[in-house]
Amino acid sequence: MKTIKEASLNNKIVVVRFDYNVPIKNGTILDTTRIEKSLKTLNYILDRASKVVILSHLGRIETEEDKKDKSLKPVCDYLSKLIKRDIAFCDYNNPVEVINNNKIIMMENTRFFDVDNKKESKSDEELSKFFASFGDIFINDAFGTAHRDNASNVGISKFLPSYNGFLIEEEVNNLDKLVKNVKRPYTVIIGGAKVSDKIKVINNLIEKVDHLLIGGGMVYTFLKAKGFNIGKSICEEEYVPIVKEVLNKYEDKIVLIKDNYVQDKVLKNIEDMNNDDIGYDIGPKTIESYKEIIDNSNTIFFNGAMGVFEEGYEYGTKELLNILNNNKGIVVTGGGDTINAINKYLKDNNFIISTGGGASLEYLEGKELPGVFL
Ligand code: 3PG
Repeated sequence: MKTIKEASLNNKIVVVRFDYNVPIKNGTILDTTRIEKSLKTLNYILDRASKVVILSHLGRIETEEDKKDKSLKPVCDYLSKLIKRDIAFCDYNNPVEVINNNKIIMMENTRFFDVDNKKESKSDEELSKFFASFGDIFINDAFGTAHRDNASNVGISKFLPSYNGFLIEEEVNNLDKLVKNVKRPYTVIIGGAKVSDKIKVINNLIEKVDHLLIGGGMVYTFLKAKGFNIGKSICEEEYVPIVKEVLNKYEDKIVLIKDNYVQDKVLKNIEDMNNDDIGYDIGPKTIESYKEIIDNSNTIFFNGAMGVFEEGYEYGTKELLNILNNNKGIVVTGGGDTINAINKYLKDNNFIISTGGGASLEYLEGKELPGVFL
């Protein structure tokens, strides 16, 4: 990997890409982990370079309307307080002037360019060149975005000498513990709402693991595929046939839930669900069966919440985190929701925490990440 230590930054204008895709509600950042995790690289650059220009995306943008609550300004303000230095915020009007007149500059959300033919997400060449024109050298430290080939993290690297920052180096080294000579049994626990986001990963990862525990909203598509009545629980109908195939092929590895908390926090076994029930969280019988597998595992990866913890359905996620924390092996966790839950329920823990959800899953699948420069 080409790392920042090999780069000569002295007196250069450094363009750095972080993943500041953080949850923001009414202008308040709900979880700042990704910002704190960027400080090592940022400080290293600030100690050497003449200027630094920071790039990041925030959320997904399709229309002008989407831009409304997706400005990086709150991140700029927070970071400025954190490092106790002024940061000029630039909305792309007159970037040359803003860069010339300031030492630390944060550009507005790079995905604002997605309104124009998805230019950022499709790694448009002109946009990549435009980002490259901001400086002399490029550092990518956005691990959470490393699985995306976007203009501001990969396209730009075609036009500037490019290196990875400390976070990417640290994250890849951590995840290598799960890729190279993994200590078995190796268990992966996947939650979250959508099967569509993770079905490809599940398909590729399942070959490599001993057990795959599925919880969160996505488990209901699996339960439906097994013929259970899931009532009105979240389900992606079009994925039921695909999930059926996966279940048939890997029945011995996949573990689904036995019970769940439905509306009004009523606990029900899966076979007792009726047409109006909506599942919100996994129950104690499920936790017991998970515990048995986890306690016998030497390596564990966990991504995605087990229930809608933000709305009070927190039992499953909380219990699971406690069980994982008692494990003597390697426990790696990744992704925005997961970090959010950990910070809420178990700040003091023994986990290796990855800032990337999709990125860490794709790395574990064995894919090369385009944002990791070799
Ligand atoms: C993430 O939070 O997973 C990364 O920031 C990537 O975001 P994306 O899935 O919208 O590309």
